[in-house]
Amino acid sequence: MTDIAFHLNGTPVCLTDVPPTQTLLDWLREERRLTGTKEGCNEGDCGACTVMVTDSDGPKAMNACILFMPQLIGKSVRTVEGLVAPDGTPHPVQTAMVTHHGSQCGFCTPGFVVSMAAAHTKGRKDHDTVLAGNLCRCTGYVPIIRAAKAAESAPVPLWLQNESTPAFFSAQISSGGAGGRQPPAASHPTTADDLAQAYVATPNATLIAGATDIGLWVTKQLRDLGPVIFLGGIEELKTIEPKGDSLRIGAGVTINHLMQAVAQSLPSLAEMLRRYASDQIRNAATIGGNIANGSPIGDGPPALIALGAVLHLRQGDTRREMPLENFFLDYRKQDRLPGEFVEAVQFSTKAPNLRCYKLSKRFDQDISAVCGCFNVTIENGKVRAARLAFGGMAGIPKRAAKAEAALVGQAWTLETVTAARDAMQADFAPMSDMRASAQYRSAAAGNMLLRYFHDLAGTPVNLLEVEA
Ligand SMILES: Cc1cc2nc3c(=O)[nH]c(=O)nc-3n(C[C@H](O)[C@H](O)[C@H](O)COP(=O)(O)OP(=O)(O)OC[C@H]3O[C@@H](n4cnc5c(N)ncnc54)[C@H](O)[C@@H]3O)c2cc1C
Ligand code: FES
Ligand code: FES
Repeated sequence: MTDIAFHLNGTPVCLTDVPPTQTLLDWLREERRLTGTKEGCNEGDCGACTVMVTDSDGPKAMNACILFMPQLIGKSVRTVEGLVAPDGTPHPVQTAMVTHHGSQCGFCTPGFVVSMAAAHTKGRKDHDTVLAGNLCRCTGYVPIIRAAKAAESAPVPLWLQNESTPAFFSAQISSGGAGGRQPPAASHPTTADDLAQAYVATPNATLIAGATDIGLWVTKQLRDLGPVIFLGGIEELKTIEPKGDSLRIGAGVTINHLMQAVAQSLPSLAEMLRRYASDQIRNAATIGGNIANGSPIGDGPPALIALGAVLHLRQGDTRREMPLENFFLDYRKQDRLPGEFVEAVQFSTKAPNLRCYKLSKRFDQDISAVCGCFNVTIENGKVRAARLAFGGMAGIPKRAAKAEAALVGQAWTLETVTAARDAMQADFAPMSDMRASAQYRSAAAGNMLLRYFHDLAGTPVNLLEVEA
């Protein structure tokens, strides 16, 4: 149980003895009767529960259904009820939704409106990306996008402007300024040293970063997590440090921040990350959680393995590092000692030939059936080095060793690449599941290598960009 303090719709809230895995959605609806925030899927997929969470990093849309209450400490939350002015004036996006007929049954509407308001506060105009995590089953998206566009030029309402300033946070909220007591360092460390100490002392604790995986253990599997340690208060883990031609990314860096960090240097990775879940999930999910979770279909590891990333682990005062691919031992089994956590991951940003291809049933907000990431170095027409890494092809994220061997030292031609594609068939024995059959996965992975060849040759390979 924890004491927590945050702001809700502009008003300080202090709570005592909050269960660590109580979700914001349940609390809003059951304890506060703020039922504008809807429960659709309860697993981060539909956006009906979207709330706006503001901290010193600015406002962002998040899914309340997989947000645990202690993750709100020192932050400010706006629900759909809190978007209107104190005198009842609607937010500009609400007015635009009415004018442009953006709502029919209305179930999805609060979630859409909150996502739109969070984006509007930041002046974002990439509405398709902003709204990819909000599902509407009856209105259709055209009127909603029209409404988002119509609201673009309206000023951010005063009652939201104040809340987004750093001054608001230092004066009102942080350090328990809303009246709450400091949460215990053992479960809410604020430094990596405190985390190291707490985790060695309680190695059976569950580390909670963005909770975009763990949230589902609670809401869908009804698991009792036992002792937990929240990582969200550790600023050191959120740093992005340039190191020569490399970036050292702290484990607590969110997928959205990672996407921004590599937008210029590794545009193909950034574009793949844009299709990683939704804006709401990317605002919460961390790269450390994505790696540590060890999912064979996570999108981060294949790209990072293709880049030759090095993983930094820490247990107490002992640190070690290893090539990221060595971390994944077997299905859901990683090379991690009791009390050891992921501190950072480091990778080269000098990889002009990196290409990442995500194949999923839906373009947006879907887990990959196959994710293929390719990084081939070509010198004087010959392959000097090749790193081909896949998700969805084995029980772990894995390199295609035989295909790589078929490439290295050979001329970079379609014949070589076709031979490597054939060799790849011996690299993997994928499984069939609801996302894809084994046969489809094998064929798709091989074809991705051909796509890569044509992509490097400058042929347009993105179906969305092909014009008649
Ligand atoms: C709707 C939805 C869509 C999704 N779409 C995608 C997708 O497209 N691509 C994709 O790859 N993933 C996707 N995911 C999965 C999820 O977002 C990622 O795995 C995410 O990166 C996990 O990060 P987190 O910070 O939320 O981890 P958490 O849920 O907090 O933790 C996950 C695991 O990692 C451990 N952990 C966290 N941080 C550390 C650390 N520093 N050291 C050691 N262990 C740690 C936790 O103890 C836990 O075991 C999706 C999830 C949802 C709900
Ligand atoms: S209820 Fe569907 S995303 Fe939260
Ligand atoms: S208006 Fe009915 S689901 Fe969107």
